[in-house]
Amino acid sequence: MSHEVTKHPVPEAFAAQANLTPETYKEMYARSVNDPEGFWAEHGKRIQWMKPFTQVKDVSWDKDNLHVKWFADGTLNVTESCLDRQLETRGDKPAIIWEGDEAEDAHTLTYRQLYKAVCRFSNVLKDLGVGKGDRVTIYLPMIPEAAMAMLACARIGAIHSVVFGGFSPEALAGRITDCESKFVITADEGLRGGRKVPLKTNADKACQLANGMVEKMLVVQRTGGDVHMEEGRDFWLHEVGAEVSDECAPEPMNAEDPLFILYTSGSTGKPKGVLHTCGGYLVWASMTHEYVFDLKENDVFWCSADVGWVTGHTYIVYGPLANGATSVMFEGVPTYPDASRFWEVCDRHQVTIFYTAPTAIRALMREGSDPVDKTSRKSIRLLGTVGEPINPEAWEWYFHIVGEGRCPIVDTWWQTETGGTMIVPLPGTTDMKPGAGSHPFFGVKPELVDAEGNILQGEAEGNLIITDSWPGQMRTVYGDHQRFVDTYFSAYPGNYFTGDGCRRDADGFYWITGRVDDVINVSGHRMGTAEVESALVSHHAVAEAAVVGYPHDIKGQGIYAYVTTVAGVEMDDELKKDLIKHVRYEIGPIASPDLIQFAPGLPKTRSGKIMRRILRKIAEDSFDALGDTSTLADPEVVDQLIEGRQNRS
Ligand code: WTA
Repeated sequence: MSHEVTKHPVPEAFAAQANLTPETYKEMYARSVNDPEGFWAEHGKRIQWMKPFTQVKDVSWDKDNLHVKWFADGTLNVTESCLDRQLETRGDKPAIIWEGDEAEDAHTLTYRQLYKAVCRFSNVLKDLGVGKGDRVTIYLPMIPEAAMAMLACARIGAIHSVVFGGFSPEALAGRITDCESKFVITADEGLRGGRKVPLKTNADKACQLANGMVEKMLVVQRTGGDVHMEEGRDFWLHEVGAEVSDECAPEPMNAEDPLFILYTSGSTGKPKGVLHTCGGYLVWASMTHEYVFDLKENDVFWCSADVGWVTGHTYIVYGPLANGATSVMFEGVPTYPDASRFWEVCDRHQVTIFYTAPTAIRALMREGSDPVDKTSRKSIRLLGTVGEPINPEAWEWYFHIVGEGRCPIVDTWWQTETGGTMIVPLPGTTDMKPGAGSHPFFGVKPELVDAEGNILQGEAEGNLIITDSWPGQMRTVYGDHQRFVDTYFSAYPGNYFTGDGCRRDADGFYWITGRVDDVINVSGHRMGTAEVESALVSHHAVAEAAVVGYPHDIKGQGIYAYVTTVAGVEMDDELKKDLIKHVRYEIGPIASPDLIQFAPGLPKTRSGKIMRRILRKIAEDSFDALGDTSTLADPEVVDQLIEGRQNRS
């Protein structure tokens, strides 16, 4: 396969104003990896400390003594960086510009207003009995209260666990019980693309499923919809928030005290609670936000992710606010009321930096250039993408049609586990190759390895590992340190294994090729195939199920499920619909299988292991590449599956 690509130089006008040059990047990068102690001692000061750190890095990736600590003797509260210290010079600067689902519905919160709102929110949480170290589950739509809730937790030292509003009651309950969260913050209803999302009703069901774990629920009024409020357990924010003070002293936290838990899917088992701590995470969030996005004082920064994902944590809330930037928060969807919405929001709020996911770009590209052309977009200076590999066609469309060739594109590769961007073409420092993650951020040491763990040199393709720690690294899996060790440090001992495949080209650019484990990436959302399988087999008609990803034009990957029914049950359209409904109930709409195929049997080795490689190939429509099937217990199954392949192109 040829990897010829068009190289785009940095647009000249952009380069002239960029914060970094190719030379400054090289210099800073060299220092960051040759003298990490000195480099991070300096850059660790970019955030506000109550008691400055004297220690910088205390890390061991040895599996018998695995620990990750940064700035470990420092004391801080992250909200002082995000709020208090901004008041003097940026009190009247917009901190959050909120754009609602309906276009007329927009408002702005200045840093001073946000500071007061967060203090009030913090006092409400305290009154409800939330204290330092308590876990608080946040299940909110994209409204400013979501950011306030996160910051209020941080202010009083509670650990937030934000659960994406699209997750089902079952999934929410699982996340509540895993971290033993006694407090839930939700809203009456969410609003997306003109449709209501019954958040409070879902939260009520989750509370029931969590068997008395939840003691208090704080409810934000969003739509005014009629919801059940349980006496003694449920409280309206606007009621309990009316009487509290708008001052709340920040809780002093150790740099390594937990800041948040965020659940993410892996190749096995239940989603795991990725834990980030206060000091290193905030340094990483603010540092990457400044350099990756070439941040200037008057920028209006819009990250279109949901706060339920790590991208929203780092680049809607913590990074921008720690940098005193203006952050746009959007409640709606890119295609409502029509496909111009993103660009209209950019015009309305004079967005200068726009950051979104390839799946959104592909969906909008399908609508043609008219919806884009009728907007101005002159305010935009820089574009970004995240979440999945971007195909060159979508990259070119984004670059030429949306950015009119003026704006560099930063394709940011990172993970929930990494806290912030790791591999990126820093704007102004490098030619751009559509689809290439390009170069490591400061302090990041990537390598490619083969299956045996040999480090590959020069032009090569292999598994992507990181060989040294960076401040934003996750610290553990909440409540299961061994799982942290096993998941990330056992495949290539002494190194962090990303789970991604990657190619390095002759010019040294890194190209992420996608997951090499049983994680699929659907519209930029991580999904463990094991989770979808376990949802399917919990249906009474299902005997066995195997789930794989397959290429999907818009979503990047779609979910392909092979299902063996129990004896006497036939697979028909009715059952398929019911299975989809069941998965939505168990996990949420994002996990709905796109294609379900009846499998009379699944290809297994003689020892009973499902041969996923074969299932993947069939789902990908690449029957010629099935490889060796002679070790199968029942080779005929493969022909039957090929025969029944759904939606064949
Ligand atoms: C994928 C999202 C290619 C990758 C921030 C990674 C990407 C997973 C990119 C993490 C990118 C993320 N190019 N692939 N720019 N960004 N990925 O935890 O497979 O939701 O491992 O974090 O998304 O997904 P997560």
